[in-house]
Amino acid sequence: MKKVIRIWDLPLRVFHWLLAITIISGIIFVKQSGSAMVWHAYCGYLALALVLFRIIWGFIGSEHARFSSFVPSPSALFAYVRGNSFGGLGHNPLGALSVLALLFSILLQAFTGLFADDEIAFQGPLSKYVSNDLVALLTSVHRFNRYFIYGLIGLHVLAIIYYQIKKKDLITPMLTGDKKIDPAEQGQEIQMFESKDGLLQRVLGFTILFSLIVLIFISF
Ligand code: HEM
Ligand code: HEM
Repeated sequence: MKKVIRIWDLPLRVFHWLLAITIISGIIFVKQSGSAMVWHAYCGYLALALVLFRIIWGFIGSEHARFSSFVPSPSALFAYVRGNSFGGLGHNPLGALSVLALLFSILLQAFTGLFADDEIAFQGPLSKYVSNDLVALLTSVHRFNRYFIYGLIGLHVLAIIYYQIKKKDLITPMLTGDKKIDPAEQGQEIQMFESKDGLLQRVLGFTILFSLIVLIFISF
């Protein structure tokens, strides 16, 4: 019999959709350049706060948000790729790798952006503290890393569409938090761990997120 189980807590879902909107807006603003660069920087600061929040939440968040629950061991990864495991309730082992790559590349992009210089009218707020050579290097990394981000986002969306076609709906759980699971259908014994998503958990998550946003915006 199918059971409804909370997988993604509210702070994680808000993090996800806010991150998607922020990254897309940041890319749209940078294409307009000129005065829109300030808005590009604001999106970058927000992306930085979001990813830092996600890293903290990966240690103290609810069950399926924790890195310990989804970062796969090599054997778990091979078992999944060979089709010998159903992949778990949260991120499957392959998805987990793409999540880590996305978080890392966005963190790198936001960090290098703080030192970047467009050589027209906009410099990242930390560029004045380092040498011109380092500014040039970090600006190049910022320019180049965008291709990884585009590739990873493209792959991410294609993977979600692929699962959708295979009748595995991942989008609804990222909206509502819940998955419908029939333990008998998975062909192996699974532990139905639920993510905590009560008021206290949510207040904790949003307090951390809000504090990071304020801290980053007043610092830069
Ligand atoms: C700029 C665009 C996007 C970025 C940067 C992004 C980033 C991420 C990240 C970091 C995660 C991991 C969530 C976590 O555990 O923290 C994730 C998961 C997810 N994203 Fe996105 N995302 C983007 C766009 C989208 C879009 C457009 C969709 C819907 C079509 C989507 C659907 C999902 C779903 C369903 C998951 C959960 C996957 C699973 O069950 O393993 N994302 N995304
Ligand atoms: C995760 C967040 C960020 C993303 C996805 C992002 C993305 C991009 C992209 C795609 C470009 C265009 C490069 C080109 O067309 O040549 C760019 C350029 C730039 N970004 Fe960001 N950026 C982010 C964060 C930041 C931050 C926080 C700052 C500074 C506060 C910043 C400052 C700049 C500058 C100065 C340029 C122009 C560099 C040049 O002319 O080559 N970015 N960024």
